[in-house]
Amino acid sequence: MMKTTKTPETITLEKTFPGNIPPAVAPPDAPQSGFAEKIAIVTGGGRGIGFAVARQLIAHGAEMVALFDLKQEALEKAVTSLDKTHCYPVAVDVTDEEQVKNAVTQIASRYGRIDLLANMAGIPGPSARVENYSFSAFKNVYAVNVFGTFLMMKYCLPYMQKNRYGTIVNTCSCSGMRGYALEIGYGSSKSAVLGMTMNAANENGGNGVRVNCVSPGWVNTGMLDDILSQYADTKDGGYTKETLRNGTMNRPSTPDEVANVVRFLLSDDARYVNGANFVCDGGKTLG
Ligand SMILES: NC(=O)c1ccc[n+]([C@@H]2O[C@H](COP(=O)([O-])OP(=O)(O)OC[C@H]3O[C@@H](n4cnc5c(N)ncnc54)[C@H](O)[C@@H]3O)[C@@H](O)[C@H]2O)c1
Repeated sequence: MMKTTKTPETITLEKTFPGNIPPAVAPPDAPQSGFAEKIAIVTGGGRGIGFAVARQLIAHGAEMVALFDLKQEALEKAVTSLDKTHCYPVAVDVTDEEQVKNAVTQIASRYGRIDLLANMAGIPGPSARVENYSFSAFKNVYAVNVFGTFLMMKYCLPYMQKNRYGTIVNTCSCSGMRGYALEIGYGSSKSAVLGMTMNAANENGGNGVRVNCVSPGWVNTGMLDDILSQYADTKDGGYTKETLRNGTMNRPSTPDEVANVVRFLLSDDARYVNGANFVCDGGKTLG
């Protein structure tokens, strides 16, 4: 007897989940065009990872990258090595709601929209056991890492939702995933960043807006220099160059190695990635 083969009905995503695909997202076979015409904000853009992200976005065609940073001096230095026609420095303290609101509104009204947000501003706080960790230091760390990230998302999201397009990358850390000793302020603030990332991703996936975070290990930036110089001799024992645990690669990453991941998450190449924590730690969290 001849076998009859039944041709399976072609099931398209559109057919199975009608109306569930954000219209602004490029179809899978569309050519990727980097960041052409994209308007971006990068907090902590004055130095370190934020600066590397800003530089890469400009190199990959972003129309405008607004660098938000607390330090005017850092911003002035940063723009000297960036293409000035595609960057816009703004002195803003991300812990201050009025400043964030005004700065975000300024960018949105000047350029018409906000497509990309990279929340890179962060501070480490001291290295100390819980009982020795000052409450004011704890609050300072939360003000920048948690409240700053929250405020930036709060004021950027409405512009993204309006266009049904936007991508946000927040900065968590291995510390936020592992609870390393002597890092109660920093580690728990980064756990909160991971939590906020998942909340915002949940709320916005259906709007064409994605929210992810990156978790670096040690990165060779001014922050690492600050940690080694300011905190090495604390009474509880801070880090030294020798005691940094760098994971399988035996070295900290460069800012660009983390920025590569941030750039991917911000891009349409990552259009199906939402609510993810992308670990970029050279294997540090393997143990
Ligand atoms: N360097 C590391 O080893 C490491 C590891 C894991 C995670 N991270 C995270 O990566 C992000 C970037 O770190 P980095 O190493 O580039 O740090 P960095 O200190 O080199 O740069 C941070 C930038 O943020 C700015 N900033 C600080 N407080 C601010 C505020 N209130 N408002 C606006 N800007 C402010 C600073 O002026 C600075 O230019 C941070 O969120 C940090 O926690 C860093």
